[in-house]
Formats: sequence, C-alpha cells, structure tokens
Amino acid sequence: MHDPLWQSMRDDGGIAGHPVRFLAATDSTNTVAMALAREGAPPGTLVVAEGQSAGRGRLARQWLSPPGRGLYVSFILRPTLELADLPKITLAAGVALCRAVVRATNVGVRLKWPNDLLLHGKKCGGILAETSGLVGDGPMAVILGIGINVNTPQAFFPAELNDKATSLAATAGREFMRGPLLLALVEEVDDVVRLLEKGGFAEILAAWRQHDGLTDQRLTWITPQGAVVTGISLGPDEDGRLHIRDDAGTVHEVLSGDLTLAAGCSPFWPAVSPTTITRPGRRN
Ligand code: BTN
Repeated sequence: MHDPLWQSMRDDGGIAGHPVRFLAATDSTNTVAMALAREGAPPGTLVVAEGQSAGRGRLARQWLSPPGRGLYVSFILRPTLELADLPKITLAAGVALCRAVVRATNVGVRLKWPNDLLLHGKKCGGILAETSGLVGDGPMAVILGIGINVNTPQAFFPAELNDKATSLAATAGREFMRGPLLLALVEEVDDVVRLLEKGGFAEILAAWRQHDGLTDQRLTWITPQGAVVTGISLGPDEDGRLHIRDDAGTVHEVLSGDLTLAAGCSPFWPAVSPTTITRPGRRN
C-alpha cells in the first residue's frame, strides 16, 4: 500500500516536528529508546521500527511485532511531573491512542484498564511506559512505548490468542496506512502530555471514562494474597487506580496488574496478581 507519510518519515527522519530514529528491524523500540535517553537524546525523540524481534508488553509478556504490519513506536519524554503522577501517563496515552485510531482509521476502539486497546473485546494495541531512573542531574526520562496491530492478519496470532487478540485490518476487513496513524498518534500524545503537565488529569480521566470498555462489567482478579475476587468495575479514580466493587459491597482499589472478565461474560486475558488496596464501602 502506497503510504507517503510513512515513506517521508523514513526518508526525512522526522514527523510532526519530532526527530525519528527509524529502524528496519530491532529487538524492542523501548529498549533502544531507553539507551538513547540515557545518552541524552532530546525529549520528543521517537524510535519507530518496521518490526521487533523481542517486543515487550507489561508483566513480561511478549508483543507480537511482525515486520511491516503494525505500528511499533517509543516516545522519549521528559515530563515535568511529580514522580507519583507518572502512572497517569499510561492513562493519558490510552486517550491519545483511542483518539488517534478513530481519527486516522474511523475504527471505534475502547480501553481496558490500565493499558489495553480493545476492538470488539479483543486486544489490538497496548502501552508500555517505563522510567529511566535519574541520570545525573538531568530530568527523568519516560519511555512511552505504543504498539498497534494495524494490518496483522488474524492467522499470525498464535492459536491461544485467537479469541483474545486482533488487528484493525483483521476486524475491519480492510488495510490501513500506518503513516497517518502515526501522525495522529504523535499529535494526540503531544496534546495529552501537555495537558497532564498543566495539571489537567481530571479532563484526561473524563475522556478515559468515555472510552472505558469495562465500566459496570463483572471482572475477576487475583489479589496479591492469591484470593480470587469477582466484582463490578467502577472505572479509574482521580489517582488512576481502578475501583472494583465485590459482591459484598467492598470497594477495592487496584494499583497495578491485570484483570479478567468474569466467567460467563467473555473469554479474556489471563489474570495475574495485581496490587490492591481494600477500602470497605467506598464509592458504591
Ligand atoms: C502491553 O500490552 O502490555 C503493552 C504492549 C506495548 C508494545 C509496544 S510496541 C513498541 C514498544 N516496544 C516494545 O517492546 N513494547 C512497546
């Protein structure tokens, strides 16, 4: 597919005013971006790869990254945020991701806390935000890695992921250009990061909730102690923590981890151990 924007990004090494390090192949754009950040790469630098041999997701999962099919990009950010606010970047990026996909492809997508992009209940994109730690006196870098399954044929996903993963093309039945999608993503990420730095998380949260694919759905998760808890998703709070109300009315604040739709709702992602704080009776 002729994709002039993708071509010009490759040729010029830039998009929307951002310098781009384009790689025909790499292990992980997040790994490359982290190394560049530690060497002092300017904020706003993007690392884009045609394919990844060791694409990474949260919780040490692999990210399938066949060459020429998806969007694999890492942003080097040096946001002026308090350390405690850094997790909000993942939620902000989710909003940017939804907006960019709708703008560039007109495909309606939803979010699953904290970092999944869903299309008809299957995962078609994800976000992996990593921090560099403090390097000398310089500001901390955040590597914001985003992967979108754009034109990946359904048959490329392993059988065990077939009912859990998809691509925009596999679901929509037509292919999409990656250049306009990357441009939209870069512009939307710029917008939400600026808003976050101005203290606008409430606005981001309101937008996130509009894209939330799990509100009022029954979920199952495993507590750090290994207990299996089932409840209703109430969405993220003003600190970005997900609230889940169990059947006894206790509201749990989930800080990290992953969630599974309850049995009978839909086959979904394997549950792993999240970190939770439990506050009886809050936010019914
Ligand atoms: C997840 O769903 O857990 C996050 C997936 C993030 C994948 C992207 S692809 C670009 C960047 N490089 C990586 O190795 N991972 C992220």
